[in-house]
Amino acid sequence: MAGKRILLVIAGGIAAYKSLELIRRLKERGASVRAVLTKAGAEFVTPLSVQALTEDTVYRDLWSLTDESEMGHIQLSRDADLLVVAPATADLLARMAAGMADDLAATVLLATDKPVLVAPAMNVRMWEHPATRANMALLESRGVLRVGPNDGAMACGEYGAGRMAEPMEILEAVAAFFARANAPEPPAGRPLAGRRALVTSGPTHEPIDPVRYIANRSSGKQGHAIAAALAELGAEVTLVTGPVRIPDPPGCSVRAVETAREMLAACEAALPADIAVCAAAVADWRVAGSSDRKLKKGAAGPPALTLTENPDILATLSRAGERRPALVVGFAAETGDVVEYATAKRARKGCDWIVANDVSPGTGTFGGDENTVHLITADGVEPWPRLGKDAVAARLAGAIAARFTGNIPAEETA
Ligand code: CTP
Repeated sequence: MAGKRILLVIAGGIAAYKSLELIRRLKERGASVRAVLTKAGAEFVTPLSVQALTEDTVYRDLWSLTDESEMGHIQLSRDADLLVVAPATADLLARMAAGMADDLAATVLLATDKPVLVAPAMNVRMWEHPATRANMALLESRGVLRVGPNDGAMACGEYGAGRMAEPMEILEAVAAFFARANAPEPPAGRPLAGRRALVTSGPTHEPIDPVRYIANRSSGKQGHAIAAALAELGAEVTLVTGPVRIPDPPGCSVRAVETAREMLAACEAALPADIAVCAAAVADWRVAGSSDRKLKKGAAGPPALTLTENPDILATLSRAGERRPALVVGFAAETGDVVEYATAKRARKGCDWIVANDVSPGTGTFGGDENTVHLITADGVEPWPRLGKDAVAARLAGAIAARFTGNIPAEETA
């Protein structure tokens, strides 16, 4: 977000005080913030506070001679990378939808050719009113982005949807917008032609006896999509997959395995490779001395299972000496403090990149079709917007291709 110019429109709602915090957060991330404060907005926050935090003039009046001479409303509306309306009241959304220009905020929003993100804030009945629903739907159909509103207790004593998104949520929405806007174009052609890639995917099944096993909820969707995306960019892909219920991805050699140890053996057999992406949810433990015969109920009660640690495939590939792939990418499935744990995991496993995702139950990542990830590399942390698993795969494959483009060893170009 560094260097980005945000024009923040603050309309009149009790949530306007949160916009002060938002200004601070945006500036912390290196953005510059210029603010338009509506007449009603100024009833909730003082122009002086907004001015002090933005370190800029606060623009308030369509008819102000000084404001117009310093910065005309057309320029104000164009001189930003993103317009953020927070709080976006029912009234301002209605005026935006109708294309009105009856105050500076509405005029700026009508005159802009830049993307607009709104953070609605209003009473639950106002939010649920068909007029507001229709206005919001119309604005979204024109490409206006939205964050929130959230459910919660309202200042008016009612409970429901209408609370403005928290400043950190708005900040994340802004960051996600810029991450999308800055995403490199997918490389044209087959930039990974001549490269060998190894991808692990799916869960592993660790037998307890011949009919029972320990497993996890991984669907294999993300790993399979990555294999397909790398193949599409021209790589020769070996996909080593645990048991899944999805079709083999096109253009890949597929090795189906059950256990972590089989997965490791299949990966080692697939070397050498230039790229390894470990997307499998490998069971960390297997049952020590699993039985060759079906365990029977008996007088002794339920059997005690002793677990023993499985080999770590990602760490093994990352430390494979001369056979180490030039780029090793791991995944980190976390349920909290995602970036912190994943950064530590990158160091511990010795891989180059970590794709970190939040698999907390509410996110629907495991088994679902979408994923919100952070790409962690030696250069830092890159938050990606919430994307379909295919889009995450395409973006990761694009980043991998970019890493290799122009980096082809001399003997291969000779
Ligand atoms: N991984 C692997 N072999 C294992 C365990 C994990 O290759 N035996 C890989 C996964 O494919 C993934 C990465 O390691 O790329 C991280 O997996 P994750 O389950 O998040 O980490 P764990 O190693 O299980 O660490 P922790 O239990 O501390 O979260």
